[in-house]
Parts: sequence; structure tokens; C-alpha cells
Amino acid sequence: MAHSPLDIDEMREPIEHRSVRRPRVLSGIAPSGSLTLGNYLGALRRFVDGQPSHQGFFFVADLHATTIEHDPARLRALTWETARLFFAAGLDSEQSTVFVQSHVPAHVELAYLLESTAYVGELSRMIQFKEKGGRPRTRASLFTYPCLMAADILLYEPRSVPVGGDQDQHVELCRDVATRFNRQYGETFVVPSLDKAGLASRVADLLDPRSKMSKSAPAGAPGVVRMLDTPDVIRRKINRAVTDSHAEVRYDPVSRPGVSNLLDVIAVVSDRSPDDLATDFASYADLKRSCIDHVVELLAPVQRRYAELAQDQGHLISLLDAGATQAVVAAGPVLARARDAVGLV
Ligand code: TRP
Repeated sequence: MAHSPLDIDEMREPIEHRSVRRPRVLSGIAPSGSLTLGNYLGALRRFVDGQPSHQGFFFVADLHATTIEHDPARLRALTWETARLFFAAGLDSEQSTVFVQSHVPAHVELAYLLESTAYVGELSRMIQFKEKGGRPRTRASLFTYPCLMAADILLYEPRSVPVGGDQDQHVELCRDVATRFNRQYGETFVVPSLDKAGLASRVADLLDPRSKMSKSAPAGAPGVVRMLDTPDVIRRKINRAVTDSHAEVRYDPVSRPGVSNLLDVIAVVSDRSPDDLATDFASYADLKRSCIDHVVELLAPVQRRYAELAQDQGHLISLLDAGATQAVVAAGPVLARARDAVGLV
């Protein structure tokens, strides 16, 4: 694709000069399980809160959910569910670009060009690959996954990429690959910063409070509160949360992770400090009761909006179509520049 030199120069202006209004932020969530309270408090709710001050690109990373063995019907259902939850949580297509990753072919196209920039050595060092991959029947896409994630990011030139700590290494790789590409082929990509503070609050599994609450845990996992769990299910799960054998409620994440996790949840929901909160509760039963109330109340309006959206699939599809159209427009120039840089005609 050809560009007039003027276009290219304009595109190469630092992002700060181009988006005078709101700095860009981007993140994706893979539909590899029903979203959890952790996804809401750690990611979605922050994206929503950031909408007035940031120009957001938020997508359901469906292509990332095919890197391990998967069931097509489940992927389809989870993609719709996740998209509905994005909107139900308050992402607003007037303020942010919300879309499904695979609806924007530029992601796959740029990913391939980045596979031709990344090295086997650096991809082999990815912790997530070392943990989940490396077997003869490991899907090749699990190995190249960080290149797709780098493409997701670079196409939209975000200033920051808020991700959970387990994704920091992938964002670092994105920075390395973008820097190498720019050096080898000329300035093409804006290298994003690693927004380490991005998703600080992390919710732990209620039964295994030293691990994060994971959407990929088996359905019905008792330590994982899902955004769509009914109040009864939420109550049951929180009531069974692991605590410890101390008598008084105190915040101490290192030696008392279970109790501290419950305090953390109440703290983010009520915007108070967990240390401070601890003194409110006379017993663990008290603490759990309060945690249940906060979580049920927090999720109720989201679940209500979710139910409305579930009644109108046509509306959801039109919101996502509009998002994909915006994303295609935003991603086009970057992809064109990258194609040109490596010598595609
Ligand atoms: N890999 C991320 C995860 O598993 C999801 C994701 C895909 C993502 N592409 C991204 C996050 C780009 C941030 C930016 O959580």
C-alpha cells in the first residue's frame, strides 16, 4: 500500500502530539473462561473509570484462546459473554473502541511480520510458554503468542498497556521486538511503556489465596467468584473462603493471605485502606458477611445490564461491528507502514 510522504511523516509524529485530547490505553482479555471478580476489579472496572481521561482500545482476545486445546462452541459462547460483560461493566462505545480481536485481520497480519522479527531464543524464554508448552503436541500458536500480543499492542500505539503481572514479560518482549524492527527497517512503531502499576490490585483464589483468581480454572471452581455468579453462589463461595486460626481480623498479606484477600476485595470496592478496614470486624464471620454484601451489591447492576444485553444479540453485534470498523481504521496506517518497511509491495 502506498503512502504519500506527508502521511508517513504525520504518522511518525510522537503519539503525544497526535492525541492531544486523551492518551491512548489498550488491553485485551482472552475468553478462556467466564470472567471473575478479579477481572472486574483488576481490569474492567479500571478501564471503565479511565474512559473520561483515556482513549481506550479494549478487545476480546479470541485468537489468544485457541493456543491451547479448545472447544469451538465454548469459545463462541465465551466470546459473546465476555463482550457482553465489557459493555455491562460500563465500557461505552461512544468513548472507547470495543471489539473482537479476530474481526480486525490486521492483528494476524502484523503478528506474522513480527514472527519474522522475533527470535526463537527470546520466545523460548517466556515463562508462560515454559509452563504450559514445550511438549510435542503443544500448539505452535502458543509459542508465537507473544508476537500476536505485540501486534495487538503496536497497531494502536497506546501510551500504556495495563496488564496483570503475569503478562509483563510479554509486554517487555513487545518493546524489544518493536525496537528491533524500528532499528532494522526504520522508525515504524511507537514503543509502548510498561505500565507496571497498571493492574496493581489482584484478587486471589478464595481457597488458594497465594494464587490469583483465574478465569481459566474449571467451571464451578469453589475459590473463583465469577462476574455472573448469583448472590447465592457468591455467598457460598465467600463463606467457604480459607482464613486462618487467628482470633482477630488483621491485614497481613504475607502471613495471612486468605483474610487479607477478603479485606483487599472490600477495600477496592469501598475505596478504603485494608488496614483501616480490619478494625471494623469483630470476627471472620463478620468479615465474610461484609465481603459478601459488597460483592453482591457491586455485581448486581453489571448483571442487570448483562441480562438486558443478552436479550438483544443484534444490538451486541452492531456495537461490536462499529468497534471493529473503528479499530480497522486506527490500525490501518500502522500495518501499512510495517508492510512497506519490510519490503512488501
Ligand atoms: N495475553 C493477555 C492475557 O492472557 C490478553 C491479551 C492479548 C492482551 N493481547 C493483549 C493484553 C494485548 C494486553 C495487550 O491476559
